[in-house]
Amino acid sequence: MLVRMLELRSIRKSFARRGSVDRLVAVDGLSLAVGRGEVFGLLGPNGAGKSTTIGMAMGLVTPEAGEVLYAGLGSPSEAAVRGRLGVAPQSLAIYDDLTGMENLVHFARLYGLRGGSLTSAVSAALEAVGLADRAGDLARTYSGGMKRRLNLAAAIVHNPDVVLLDEPTAGVDPQSRDAILGMVRRLSSEGVTVVYTTHYMEEAQRLCDRIGIIDHGRLLALGTVDELVALHGGETLVRITRAGGAAEQVIRTTDPVAALRSAMERSPPIDGVRIERPDLESVFLSLTGRTLRD
Ligand SMILES: Nc1ncnc2c1ncn2[C@@H]1O[C@H](COP(=O)(O)OP(=O)(O)OP(=O)(O)O)[C@@H](O)[C@H]1O
Ligand SMILES: [Mg+2]
Repeated sequence: MLVRMLELRSIRKSFARRGSVDRLVAVDGLSLAVGRGEVFGLLGPNGAGKSTTIGMAMGLVTPEAGEVLYAGLGSPSEAAVRGRLGVAPQSLAIYDDLTGMENLVHFARLYGLRGGSLTSAVSAALEAVGLADRAGDLARTYSGGMKRRLNLAAAIVHNPDVVLLDEPTAGVDPQSRDAILGMVRRLSSEGVTVVYTTHYMEEAQRLCDRIGIIDHGRLLALGTVDELVALHGGETLVRITRAGGAAEQVIRTTDPVAALRSAMERSPPIDGVRIERPDLESVFLSLTGRTLRD
């Protein structure tokens, strides 16, 4: 059963548009609940409203309507609640002129850590993101992926109950990506709640317990990958080629095994099979008529 940790209740935020009386509605009455220890993915294309949603969840942006509530804590408009959150913003929030270590000492101090607990928290955070061996180097000498990892370490250095990660793998190399995904899994296994925004559906599919698909500031669908694919993914395609070079046969089906079995009973013999199962991309396409990468 889902034990609620974070609840967004019909939150809304709009922005003034230059030269127009109409406002741009970035988040449009969004409601969802995230469970304790869950990795919750907010998946949507550019401009969908993910960062604005994270901004409201972290207490940086005040919703025009609706509310954000952390179970047992309260609203992120209270400083004490914000102290239990860890945030890695989409635009990196680290100091280039400080070393990795100095950056984390700075953030740990902001969260009130001192003395031995500060030192051990900083070492643990550096270790968690695989930067211990570069801790003494200036952040400006880090690669893009390393900067992302430092940004993440700053979000977890004070052992928060909830971490909000806005596009934590944007523009990183595969090695950094693996380190980041591994870190998120570890956090979740330790009972930390993770909200993770991305427009990479493979990543959401691999990592997240549940996913909310968001577009134009609205939640279009919510569930586990299997639930989303079963409800909105459509049919599986079975592509069959046969000996003798006849044209490829494409079967649309909800039961690919049965389709393949009956195809095997016919001749000429099959010499190639490709099965294309629906994935989150198919879900997004069927919900919006567009691909995530548009
Ligand atoms: N401070 C702001 N002022 C005006 N418009 C804004 C502001 N912040 C966001 N917007 C607009 O609100 C909409 C949602 O933006 P948001 O940054 O939340 O989307 P996103 O899903 O995070 O996109 P991306 O994947 O590009 O990061 C966009 O149309 C954006 O231009
Ligand atoms: Mg964003």
